[in-house]
Amino acid sequence: IRVAVIVVAAGSGERLGQGQPKAQAALGSEPLLVHALRGVLAAHVAEFLCVVVPRGDVELRAVCARIDPSIRTVDGGSTRSDSVSNALAVLPANIDAVLVHDAARPLTPEEVFHRVRNALEAGAQAVIPALAVVDTIKTAQPSTEREIAPEQVHTTPQRDVLRAVQTPQGFDLATLRAAHEAASMFNDAQAAAITDDAMLVESQGVPVYIVRGSELSLKITTPIDLLIAEAMLEGPAA
Ligand code: C5P
Repeated sequence: IRVAVIVVAAGSGERLGQGQPKAQAALGSEPLLVHALRGVLAAHVAEFLCVVVPRGDVELRAVCARIDPSIRTVDGGSTRSDSVSNALAVLPANIDAVLVHDAARPLTPEEVFHRVRNALEAGAQAVIPALAVVDTIKTAQPSTEREIAPEQVHTTPQRDVLRAVQTPQGFDLATLRAAHEAASMFNDAQAAAITDDAMLVESQGVPVYIVRGSELSLKITTPIDLLIAEAMLEGPAA
């Protein structure tokens, strides 16, 4: 199969608090996006690589050109899902499948890309890497991470059925395009509630398969995550 990789790097980085797009934040001596792109290139899975950057951002475009001049860049949208749609619109005609990867996961090991790609090659329409959940998870009122007020627990899902989902998420291209097409009818609240591509595909009744993710594939969201990633870069591999 011919695979395109879409790296979404158009997030604002508000929760990281550095006053710059998250993909520009430094990890060691390079921006997060450089680490993420090196991971994608080292995995040798991409026939075509597209990076979604914040609208008008010249720095991240320059980063892409420096890493590999053949990388295509497109402007992001107001939600993650809009950003992915913008990239889906520019893929070449001969592509069969797409891996959507977060620039916010700079240390994803090559094996994870391979596991996702191999499952697609074996015929899966949708594949996501995930890990078992270690915390007990409760449900409560909708909130953002920063605004947890005293509140009442709603339910406690059984922990052994929960999975923490990572990227790259892999899809048959026609399947992902159809799911994004259906989502274009969503109102703003519905659109904002879409936190990954697999959700869109699930809502179309497509089976989504899980392969093993990696503890190394952490997502950089808040400052503590950057500290952990710095330690992972310097120290012996976990
Ligand atoms: O916001 P969150 O951390 O869930 O974002 C996950 C990934 O989606 C990040 O790599 C971010 O750059 C990307 N994103 C995007 N466009 C948006 C929002 C997020 O490309 N509008």
